Amino acid sequence: MDKSIKIFVPASSANLGAGFDVIGACLDIWNEIKVTEEKFSIDIEGYGSKSISKNKDNLIYKSYLKTSEIHGFKEKEISIQCNNSIPISGGLGSSSSAVIAGIYAAYAINKIEINTDDIFQIASDIECHPDNVGPAIFGGITIGFNDLEKWFISSVSYNKNLKFISFVSDQKVLTNESRKALPKEISRKDAVYNISRASLLINSLNSNNFDLLKYAFQDKLHEPYRTPSIKGYQTISNAAMNAGAISTYLSGSGPTISAVSLNKEVTINYEMLDAANKLGLEGKGFISSISDKGAYIVE
Ligand code: HSE
Repeated sequence: MDKSIKIFVPASSANLGAGFDVIGACLDIWNEIKVTEEKFSIDIEGYGSKSISKNKDNLIYKSYLKTSEIHGFKEKEISIQCNNSIPISGGLGSSSSAVIAGIYAAYAINKIEINTDDIFQIASDIECHPDNVGPAIFGGITIGFNDLEKWFISSVSYNKNLKFISFVSDQKVLTNESRKALPKEISRKDAVYNISRASLLINSLNSNNFDLLKYAFQDKLHEPYRTPSIKGYQTISNAAMNAGAISTYLSGSGPTISAVSLNKEVTINYEMLDAANKLGLEGKGFISSISDKGAYIVE
């Protein structure tokens, strides 16, 4: 290969509403990755420039190798140049975006015909979070699940004017660590609680009737166990609600606190940042639409 390809991978917000481990949204925030078949090197600008490994244990490179191996190809060294706009370990799917970038790189370098369903299978096997990789591959809002060792995806219709306002503090949360705080079993009462809210979320989005949407963001499966260790969660969430958010939730495993809104995103972002500032918390606010396009390659 004598020329470079560019891969664009979006952020994703997992655990949307009561859809723990299942429902996620594709956000219009993008990492751009340039890949060239040549001597191995990794260069990173933007988020993670200092913290992400530039050796062969880099998640993009590992996913590239794994995908090449699955398709029966030997290692061809590549150089990777990342321009990252997705915060690292922040709850906006940075790891999933790295996995997907590596998979797309393997498809391009080995000239494998793109098949998004196969890419979704590989990405979900590596990452295990279909609520991140699903929306980041297919765009929009998705329901992802596993049955008999195969991953399935279903897309949900939504109002294109919905905005997500995310406060990403510099607190680092590792998903694997954060999952250890979750109970292995839950009561039937809590299961019914989440089934009702997750069903309501899909129905509200499908029918574009937001009267009950705020209830669809209530969760008993992960937020009660995770939010106590998220700095400023309640105060920042309250600030978003007081500024007119439809609802708030913990994006992925956090620390990102996300709010949804139809038309008050600027005020909500301002109030969330102000609340964080008063608590002495460093962080950044992101206002984003849902991207109906997932990851793609430009040759
Ligand atoms: N559903 C996953 C979790 C998402 O909550 O652990 C991680 O981004």
